[in-house]
Amino acid sequence: MGEGRRVWKVGEKVLFGMFGAFMLLAGIGFYFMDAAVQRHPGMFKVTTHYNLSAEGEKGSSIFLKEGCTDCHRAIQDGTNSGLSLDGEGSKRSAQWIYAFLKHPEETYGAKTIDHRDPSVSGTSAAPPTAGAYVAAPAPAAYVAAMPEEKIKALTAFLSELTADVGSTSSALPPDAHDAFVDKMVKMWAPDSWKEKFKDVRKEEKQ
Ligand code: HEC
Repeated sequence: MGEGRRVWKVGEKVLFGMFGAFMLLAGIGFYFMDAAVQRHPGMFKVTTHYNLSAEGEKGSSIFLKEGCTDCHRAIQDGTNSGLSLDGEGSKRSAQWIYAFLKHPEETYGAKTIDHRDPSVSGTSAAPPTAGAYVAAPAPAAYVAAMPEEKIKALTAFLSELTADVGSTSSALPPDAHDAFVDKMVKMWAPDSWKEKFKDVRKEEKQ
């Protein structure tokens, strides 16, 4: 055996050869997997967006500080016990949101659960009657009594939360028309349905 020259044993060659082959395969695998991940967007597509103005930013911090997130969710903050307000600006106009915050029942045109208009139901602590709707202070009755400035900032914030048309946070279904389905509906739907139901795809937000 010559000086300084190392002859590899068969076992070493096999071992290092296998190791090398594994590394090569891992490298190739990683390259293609990474390329695939880059090509396909996330599994859960983000369909809600926000682009806050200065007033909207102010409303966003009021939203966090004033307990709205105890019940609502918006921009990855809050809980799901109330409605998710992501996409609210695509469902409701700023005037509607403002009106709701001040006069919830009147704006809903129905009895509300947590929001309450102090001028309608008063703030008196009437004892709740079992099974009946009562004008007792509701947990979110404080909202309508907030100072005008805060309500305006909250309105700006909420109306800047938007959603893609057709997403679950959007008021409107996907912007797609199937000519066949439309034709079938026109042909077979009873006239009473046509009067009773509107095509929401043509509807403006409230
Ligand atoms: C105790 C729970 C609770 C809290 C706190 C609360 N909300 Fe609500 N919110 C609700 C519920 C429930 C509804 C549905 C209306 C109802 O029945 O009261 C609602 C409805 C809304 C709506 C109407 C959504 C729609 O499009 O129909 C807006 C806007 C809203 N809340 C904003 C706020 C803001 C802003 C705050 C904080 C200042 C807040 N809420 C605090 C429970 C709550």
